[in-house]
Amino acid sequence: MKYKDKVVYQIYPKSFQDSNGDGWGDIPGIISRLDYLKDLGIDVIWFNPMCISPQKDNGYDVADYRNFDPRYGTMEDFERLSKECEKRGIEIMFDMVFNHTSTEHEWFKRALKGEQKYKDYYIWRKKPTNWQSKFGGSAWEYAESLDEYYLHLFDKTQADLNWENPEVRQECADIINYWISKGVHCFRFDVVNLISKATVDEDDPNNADGRQFYTDGPKVHEYLQELNANSFGQDPAAITVGEMSSTTLANCVRYANEDEKELSMVFTFHHLKVDYKDLKKWELKPYDFLELKRLLSSWQIGMQEAGAWSALFLNNHDQPRALSRFGNDTVYRKQSAKTLAAITHLMRGTPYVYMGEEIGMTNAYFKDISQYVDVESTNIFEILKKEGKSEAEIYHILQERSRDNSRTPMQWNADINAGFSKAKPWLEVTYNYKDINVEESLKDKDSIYYFYKDLIRLRKTYEVIRTGLYVPLLEDDSQIFAFERKTESESLIVLANFYEQETSADLSTKGYDVLLQNYPDVLTEGDSIRLRPFETVVFYRSL
Ligand code: GLC
Repeated sequence: MKYKDKVVYQIYPKSFQDSNGDGWGDIPGIISRLDYLKDLGIDVIWFNPMCISPQKDNGYDVADYRNFDPRYGTMEDFERLSKECEKRGIEIMFDMVFNHTSTEHEWFKRALKGEQKYKDYYIWRKKPTNWQSKFGGSAWEYAESLDEYYLHLFDKTQADLNWENPEVRQECADIINYWISKGVHCFRFDVVNLISKATVDEDDPNNADGRQFYTDGPKVHEYLQELNANSFGQDPAAITVGEMSSTTLANCVRYANEDEKELSMVFTFHHLKVDYKDLKKWELKPYDFLELKRLLSSWQIGMQEAGAWSALFLNNHDQPRALSRFGNDTVYRKQSAKTLAAITHLMRGTPYVYMGEEIGMTNAYFKDISQYVDVESTNIFEILKKEGKSEAEIYHILQERSRDNSRTPMQWNADINAGFSKAKPWLEVTYNYKDINVEESLKDKDSIYYFYKDLIRLRKTYEVIRTGLYVPLLEDDSQIFAFERKTESESLIVLANFYEQETSADLSTKGYDVLLQNYPDVLTEGDSIRLRPFETVVFYRSL
């Protein structure tokens, strides 16, 4: 399968590279950095949305699906990007936001004017239910001109599309086909398992937020199969990934199974809630390592048994930096970043690298609300304040959880604004950019960057990394994440200490060679291996 040997790199375009001095990243800026990405060895770039948008949710509120926000550039800039990517053998992945549009979209504006055709593109009710928006507050907003409420699972400027309407489904297929005609073959589908609503008329009992009525809804597989048949399914070069919110394994094995003709692979998030107290994002608790391991492993096995494919990731633009969350972003920054990378890249699936993780960027740790831009963060600040939390407590929570932690500008060098822009960036640069940046990483042969480069190269070299069976090892060990990957002719063992304390792994690796490590040597003691703080060793053997 052509996506099994690929590595995807995610660019948050607003924060990657500014070329025209307005403090916003842009397409020409991205073009100027393509050689860096080519050198890293990645195959596909996933771009967060760059379409016309009022930017209430940084582009996930699309007002025009076919044109670029001029702050990113023009269609000519995109054509140049496309050519430059092609020259370097890099594919482009676009982000399709089809659960909702911006309320500034022409369709919604016409709906508000009472045009029935467009009113039917959205979801309306005379009275709201008790459902909650994922960004806080009611999921229904009153529209005065119609004297009705429209559904918005996210911000009130993101109105949910009515997928029951075949015209909406056709519009979405047409948009994909438009981008295919422009040479884009890879697509990420935003919160795509929320598109089918079982009902919008019922209150959720026990004051739950309503997700049971729209998560993996009754027609979601049917809709995805239809979209596949009418658009990317006809493109032999297509690679697709769906973002699946609060989903189940039973659904994912269908979304990401070639037999079902839905998507190539899925992003799931269960493993990224292991530090949520009672699964509540805004309540902190130290992360549960055994739970992280159990979740990653059980999904690996479940997907594998069903022949379904996973997107592998610990970072993206909605998550705080994994290094700050599961690693140690000070004393053991290098070792722990490499450990997290090795685990991610060597499980069964397609790895995604989020910009900056390859140089060990950390959380932003902003100290004042004026530094935050993200709508979810600024909303929650007010909500938690109303609930009586002190500002100090709220800042602590945001420093751990805000999406802005990972959205800060890419750290290229020690120049002003980390080399991202000469102007004041739309979001402040993280304080540590003078030490943590691309220029420094390229100079240091032991850097996190070169470790990523090795991991990407190894995927191209070893069949076992691409397609080997995943077998968990040392499952009950409370400090080590270990697994084997194997084919009939190769075996790979990954051993990773997730803690600062030393430990040893009782496991024989006789006959194996060391393929990759994050310390200068490996301490083998008979049938056990000593693992230093955040040490990772990858063993290989052909059978
Ligand atoms: C997805 C995006 C996120 C956005 C949300 C609503 O989760 O990744 O950034 O806010 O969908 O579109």
